Amino acid sequence: MTSVAEIRKTFLEYFKRQGHEIVRSSPLVPQNDPTLMFANSGMVQFKNVFTGQEKRSYTRATTAQKCVRAGGKHNDLENVGYTARHLTFFEMLGNFSFGDYFKSDAIPFAWELLTKDFGLDPKRLCVTVYHDDDEAAAIWKKITGFGDDKIIRIPTMDNFWMMGDTGPCGPCSEIFFDHGDKIAGGPPGSPDQDGDRYVEIWNNVFMQFESLPDGTRTKLPKPSIDTGMGLERMATVLQGKHDVFSIDLLRISSAPKSL
Ligand code: SER
Repeated sequence: MTSVAEIRKTFLEYFKRQGHEIVRSSPLVPQNDPTLMFANSGMVQFKNVFTGQEKRSYTRATTAQKCVRAGGKHNDLENVGYTARHLTFFEMLGNFSFGDYFKSDAIPFAWELLTKDFGLDPKRLCVTVYHDDDEAAAIWKKITGFGDDKIIRIPTMDNFWMMGDTGPCGPCSEIFFDHGDKIAGGPPGSPDQDGDRYVEIWNNVFMQFESLPDGTRTKLPKPSIDTGMGLERMATVLQGKHDVFSIDLLRISSAPKSL
């Protein structure tokens, strides 16, 4: 069985090999950001790096970020306990480019890691792109050979990621795993998309804008990448389960005997 610890390590080491700095998770409560109560994704600690206000010694980073989505724009609380995939606390694995690489590298990285290092069967995968993102759709087509039925164009804000009412944002491309027809649910964009059959395992955001408090958007200094893979969801897939509460991290039976 592939443990949560092995998945986290495989992800971080894959991106280290691609020239990314492994950066520690930031604390759950953001240090210098009055717009958020809790970190809701891996990009939060890098908000000012995307906007150009802060410089780091690296332009590529990878993290395993502690997250809570319990309010604001990304609130999962209503779903916890009702679906097989939502948690109050979770870890998000991410790779980030601060004005370094963009879509034509981010998409092949994601595909290689999923299908080679993690060994997922491409037949069980499908992807979404923002409806007018012909460039991302063309890259996916080239590297996967998928037809239009598996590169699904979504015209809603489901495929335009924003950290909150303000902050970095951009169109995104989500990767879904199909748990099979024993589980109720339909592909993204279909009337049954909210079921647990097709589960989003990874979101690749093509960061290009910053939303400002007056509701307008400006361009970021350079196009950038922000991705987020649900660690516990990947564990669900790789451990052959469909219910996130069945993974090694959350089963009482996997706790040390002394507990
Ligand atoms: N910020 C994006 C998300 O949370 C990708 O990390 O989905």
